[in-house]
Amino acid sequence: MDIADSAIPGAQTRPHTTVDRTARHRRFVMIRPTHFAVDYVINPWMDLSTPVDTARAVAQWEALRQAYIDLGHTVDEVDPAPGLPDMVYAANGAMAVGGRAVVARFAHAERAGEAPAHAAWMLDHGFVSVQTRHTNEGQGDLLLVGATILAGYGFRTDRRAHHEVADHLQVPLVSLELVDPRFYHLDTALAVLDDESIAYYPPAFADHSLATLRRLYPHAIEVASADAYALGLNVVSDGLNVVMPAAATGFADQLRQHGFRPVGVDLSELLKGGGSVKCCTLEVHS
Ligand code: ARG
Repeated sequence: MDIADSAIPGAQTRPHTTVDRTARHRRFVMIRPTHFAVDYVINPWMDLSTPVDTARAVAQWEALRQAYIDLGHTVDEVDPAPGLPDMVYAANGAMAVGGRAVVARFAHAERAGEAPAHAAWMLDHGFVSVQTRHTNEGQGDLLLVGATILAGYGFRTDRRAHHEVADHLQVPLVSLELVDPRFYHLDTALAVLDDESIAYYPPAFADHSLATLRRLYPHAIEVASADAYALGLNVVSDGLNVVMPAAATGFADQLRQHGFRPVGVDLSELLKGGGSVKCCTLEVHS
């Protein structure tokens, strides 16, 4: 499934000093954390003994939504459903590119009930959508960089689903193996900054995948542990503005040096479920 280097825009990335950053309008789907809680443990960030303040989670989420609107982006909402406390992590629900969508098949039974809401949204908005035979957790593990999908496997999305995703969406795909359970989704270990720029946390990847990343994106930003452990890579960029966890201050400095504008938000309540900015944001790619 891996494709030739020459087909990947990032392979030709110029040194950052020569690049002019520009924002592009984005379309997002979000789900209000009305029913957010930590009721079960399916990743190392979740701890049943830590109290969750749902009202605070809603306020933090509302600030994230407002940040997107202030930047001029479009935000659609899917209604939250009781009994699905992780539904706020909308990124996991689907992957949509150019009128086609793949709806999630969740790894854990606790989240399976979220998929129909995403399927309904995609149907209502004219997307030709399928659900894969094998497990896929949408944009948790499937990230579009320019015309290429970077796809994680190892914890949630089944590598066999990568072929199904690439076939249905008709987008070339590069598979990357995740090895650290703290970074169980690709979007916790790798950030897409624009059509050819990424940032990532090297220890989250198997050696062969690290070699792939270094070959394809020689100018990528590599982040330090302190930022990765604040889920600093779980960001949403419009090509210029990078909406990100405010605690990842080292990564914010790196972004500034590369000509991006970090926009810090506090999603500390949602971190208790193992997610941050990107997890809460499903991007609908045109
Ligand atoms: N508690 C959720 C889970 O473990 C968090 C999902 C975070 N989402 C993401 N895109 N990384 O599934």
